[in-house]
Amino acid sequence: MWISFAGIITNYKDVKQFLVQKGHKFRSDTDTEIIAKLIKHIHGLHPNYSFRELVEQVIQQLEGAFALCFKSMHFPGEVVATRRGSPLLVGIKTKTKLATDHIPILYSKDVFEFGGRALSTRDRDHRPHGHEIPAHGLARSQSTSEFLPQGDNKEVEYFFASDASAIIEHTDRVIYLLDDDVASVEKEGVLKIHRLKRTLEDTHAREITTLKMEIQQIMKGNFSSFMQKEIFEQPESVVTTMRGRINFDSETVVLGGIKDYIGEIRRCRRLLLIACGTSYNSAIATRQLLEELTELPVMVDLASDFLDRNTPIFRDDVCFFISQSGETADTLMALRYCKQRGALIVGITNTVGSSICRESHCGVHINAGPEIGVASTKAYTSQIISLVMFALMVSEDRISAQPRRSEIIQGLRNLPDQIKEVLELDSKIQEISKKVFEKKSLLVLGRGYNYATCLEGALKIKEITYMHSEGILAGELKHGPLALVDKGMPIIMICTRDNVFVKCMNALQQVTAREGRPILICHKNDQEPQKYGSSVLEVPKTVDCLQGILTVIPLQLVSYHVAVLKGCNVDCPRNLAKSVTVE
Ligand code: AGP
Repeated sequence: MWISFAGIITNYKDVKQFLVQKGHKFRSDTDTEIIAKLIKHIHGLHPNYSFRELVEQVIQQLEGAFALCFKSMHFPGEVVATRRGSPLLVGIKTKTKLATDHIPILYSKDVFEFGGRALSTRDRDHRPHGHEIPAHGLARSQSTSEFLPQGDNKEVEYFFASDASAIIEHTDRVIYLLDDDVASVEKEGVLKIHRLKRTLEDTHAREITTLKMEIQQIMKGNFSSFMQKEIFEQPESVVTTMRGRINFDSETVVLGGIKDYIGEIRRCRRLLLIACGTSYNSAIATRQLLEELTELPVMVDLASDFLDRNTPIFRDDVCFFISQSGETADTLMALRYCKQRGALIVGITNTVGSSICRESHCGVHINAGPEIGVASTKAYTSQIISLVMFALMVSEDRISAQPRRSEIIQGLRNLPDQIKEVLELDSKIQEISKKVFEKKSLLVLGRGYNYATCLEGALKIKEITYMHSEGILAGELKHGPLALVDKGMPIIMICTRDNVFVKCMNALQQVTAREGRPILICHKNDQEPQKYGSSVLEVPKTVDCLQGILTVIPLQLVSYHVAVLKGCNVDCPRNLAKSVTVE
């Protein structure tokens, strides 16, 4: 048995105990092994079951979040794949066009209505394999032949993957499977999608979508890692996020995915921004602007904590779920929690067709392009821009907000060139990284709009360099963290000219008074803070609410260079996954 498995089986101990009692021996403590042993066990009990039926039996016993793909020597030439809570798609490659752009769902519940008579599991044991009840009464032959390629060449190749970027080099046509879909490719090479039971929400077919992704988008090109490539793509990725949405001349912003809901959003009780990791930091980065331009209370929550607290949610709440992958388990569960309570659900994702996309009432695609490196970089800056555009769109009817809106829109216009300027600091940052890469810890200090940069910079550093790093709000310094400061403690401090500059200077002096010599990120040609820094990284000045986009890039580069100097795997840091599809 060959199984490809992503996810977690939460009841694996119970299943294992059951199988041990039945005499099965285990070689490992992994949850993957219980799946292999369980299918073997069921095959022993029901030797007449088809491969797909065996998999259906297995998944009914499993709890957790998973994407599974099975092959077996007992069923040569067949593949069965299924998902629950983890993403899974099927790529289809043919020489000629397919006869249809949909594949119908076949239902195969243990007990189902068949010509007015309930067919039981026992009956099923004696019926021929593959006797399915298709949706809408489609005959089996009809459902499958429609799916075959047109013309004489019937050759079809299938690819199973959790992410489109893994298969784009082979095909751009995919079917996104839904939870509990069981896709099987049988000997004759026909793909079928089954579900155990029919529900009211079922669409009875899965659509074959054509990916808009290009192969070059997922190639490293001249870069040594995807993360480095993605950092350097930011002058373009921010443009694609804004393309077709901002008219810089008329100073108008239209987000097509939410325009029909703007009235409802303006009337809401409060905005909630819910996310994990970097996506959460993008919510922190934009909260202040959202409060200012929408004049609504804005709550920002980590999805896991939000769920732990059973937070009260009301029908007139608007809940934003921010996620690069659109598949993060905690964020998705928080979404379902809010949806059940009647709130309006807005998805902010980078992955078309993802679970968060599909389950939201409306949303914004950040259009940053595929992000392959586990450490999120360009998605972060595009998430910030998407939320800023949302704030601009909601405030369009507020006369008093027009000067502010105008300065932000012009700030967005200049951003791509300013990002290019920041990226020119790369070799200087590489040199600075050489001074810190052997240290144990790195503190990142700032406040106001730059606080999110501190959190995000520290997250990048720990994630890919395995060095301890902490993002500290400069206003909190004297409430504890100041005790850490001495001449040996590496510190990066962000000190740009905004409404908290004076307070930042104050914090900077407290640090230098304890012999701290921070690396400073400040505005170009701003002499005042520079005299306190051991090294200085000068970034161009932009509007306060966009400054975090320019101050985070030096920290993305610090983390990248430190990781390279330490010999860490930049794109695949230990213990982490790109999509966290388990709780
Ligand atoms: C960022 O570098 C991390 N890989 C991680 O914090 C990530 O942002 C988090 O897991 C949330 O992922 P999502 O945006 O895909 O929901």
